[in-house]
Amino acid sequence: MMKLAVFASGSGSNFQALALAAKEERLQAEIALLVCDNSEAYAVKRAEQLNIPVFSFRAREYDNKAAFENEIVEKLKEAGVDLIVLAGYMRLIGPTLLNAFEKQIINIHPSLLPAFPGKNAIGQAWEKGVKITGVTVHFVDEGMDTGPIIAQEAVAVKKTDSLQSLTLAIQAAEHRVYPETIQLLIEKRTLEGSPYNDHQASIN
Ligand code: GRF
Repeated sequence: MMKLAVFASGSGSNFQALALAAKEERLQAEIALLVCDNSEAYAVKRAEQLNIPVFSFRAREYDNKAAFENEIVEKLKEAGVDLIVLAGYMRLIGPTLLNAFEKQIINIHPSLLPAFPGKNAIGQAWEKGVKITGVTVHFVDEGMDTGPIIAQEAVAVKKTDSLQSLTLAIQAAEHRVYPETIQLLIEKRTLEGSPYNDHQASIN
């Protein structure tokens, strides 16, 4: 079975949705490790409740990004991880991880990229008054939310929406789309006909 590592920094609701999908076998993968850059994050508590191993670290205790990413790579190799799944991990991935897991790192972002990259994407879309926004799953490169797009789902902004209700609708879409998309990647059913379908070959 394919082994995933989920990287999170905060609440970890996507992590939990993935763990549930794996338990219910909608996602045929094992979440082998949660990697977290904040041992106080709620994601860590969720992992403890789910009996999923955690590697947490403090970036400031290392000399630089390469130093902590080297340690992460070690933990991922030890755990036999095939695919890195970013879910609210608030750091750019550096060359150490990108080279060790080439084309095997994906991310979810709460907008229809390339619109509204970066922090507070739902708030940015709300402020702009867009009528349609959504979620994007993409491969990770050195940029901020810039890699090749794997899947998107639109979420309409309703007249009756508030920022809060829109946020809930987007989170619900994320919790459904992320496990579905990873399952499609595992089955090698995504990206057919896409200019990026060479990525497909690298997902074991
Ligand atoms: C999600 O909206 C995700 O798209 C973004 O960060 C948020 C993480 O939420 N990258 P959670 O920690 O999974 O609840």
